[in-house]
Amino acid sequence: MSHDTAPADRPLGVGILGAGPVTQAIHLPALARLQDILEVRHIMDVDPAVASSVAARVGATAGTSMDALMNDPAVDVVAICSPHQFHADQVIAACRAGKQAVLCEKPFAMNAGEAARISAVSSETGVPIVVGAMHTFDPGWLAAEQNWGDLPEQVHTIRSSIVLPPNARFEDFATEILTRPAAGEPNYSDINVIKNALRGGIMGLAIHDLPLVRRFTPDFADIEVLQVLHVRPFGYAVSLRTPTRVIELRAVMNSTWKPEWTFEAIADDAALHIDFTPSYVQAGSAVARLTSRGGSETRTFGPYGHNGYEGEWRELAELAKGTRQAPSAQALIDDLTFALAIADATVDSAPGQADTAEKAGVSA
Ligand SMILES: NC(=O)c1ccc[n+]([C@@H]2O[C@H](COP(=O)([O-])OP(=O)(O)OC[C@H]3O[C@@H](n4cnc5c(N)ncnc54)[C@H](O)[C@@H]3O)[C@@H](O)[C@H]2O)c1
Repeated sequence: MSHDTAPADRPLGVGILGAGPVTQAIHLPALARLQDILEVRHIMDVDPAVASSVAARVGATAGTSMDALMNDPAVDVVAICSPHQFHADQVIAACRAGKQAVLCEKPFAMNAGEAARISAVSSETGVPIVVGAMHTFDPGWLAAEQNWGDLPEQVHTIRSSIVLPPNARFEDFATEILTRPAAGEPNYSDINVIKNALRGGIMGLAIHDLPLVRRFTPDFADIEVLQVLHVRPFGYAVSLRTPTRVIELRAVMNSTWKPEWTFEAIADDAALHIDFTPSYVQAGSAVARLTSRGGSETRTFGPYGHNGYEGEWRELAELAKGTRQAPSAQALIDDLTFALAIADATVDSAPGQADTAEKAGVSA
């Protein structure tokens, strides 16, 4: 397989595996603004009607075969946007096909075994991997990181708080979505349904902020769960502690008109507060506020012109061109291990069927 780089003056060819809502409502709009550096050339989906309809929007080749996409010489970089369970094998296939870089939607693996397989193939092939945890690519977050000094050592409380309408509302604002899975009414009298919802909440939503949480949690190996609540129709309230940190993860998806997504890291006399734009909304970056000296000094970073989605594609292009050094696969593995540890601890502490209480949509 070739590992040649595209000529510097030509956009890189993008191949996308999975053309569901995330491709249609997030990645194609982001890529439409990056046409000077990236060009969608091949779209594969197991559903032929979805593949051909979405490919037609961008003038790309359509198909249902992963191998055909991997063997397409027009494809320089691959984005994996299929459901979670296919991510690991597809990342590995893209690395083995000698593509120049791989973007994998979060989570990039579902267990530590898959993560170890990816890490081995990534170091063997040298193909850089970007995981689509978009907040880590947001210019507001990156500017805060450049300026927060020794805050990570001082922090004692970390919070990720998310209030969002259901994804479908944003997807419909962004584009006309094809083939959305039918929504059913979950059976919350079954503890396994609640456990699956909690795992899905941590691995699907909180995961965007967990790499950020990890930056402020040096002793994360020693995590203890204080409280787990399941919030209906979709959400969670999870409190955790390590020997030196309290971590609060909260999310609710309801019919709110005002989405909010904040991340906070708080020390005795300094703090970081970030307001992220909600997923799907591509209207500039997060705004980060660094407060110090007991609140007497505040510095604000952002909003900048693009958000983390565009940021991850820009990074992918730079990695493929070799103009930026690849992040270590170990950092991605550590992020995933951290997320899995929190998801496992949350599910293990999920309220048992017998003590399930129903109060204002909260299962405790
Ligand atoms: N970064 C974000 O903000 C964000 C937002 C939404 C979803 N996601 C992630 O993107 C991924 C896809 O989510 P989605 O919302 O598009 O919904 P989805 O998972 O329902 O849609 C995925 C598409 O993949 C197709 N597909 C199924 N099996 C496939 C396979 N083996 N190979 C290729 N295609 C296959 C389906 O036909 C469907 O069109 C998930 O892993 C999800 O976590 C990320």
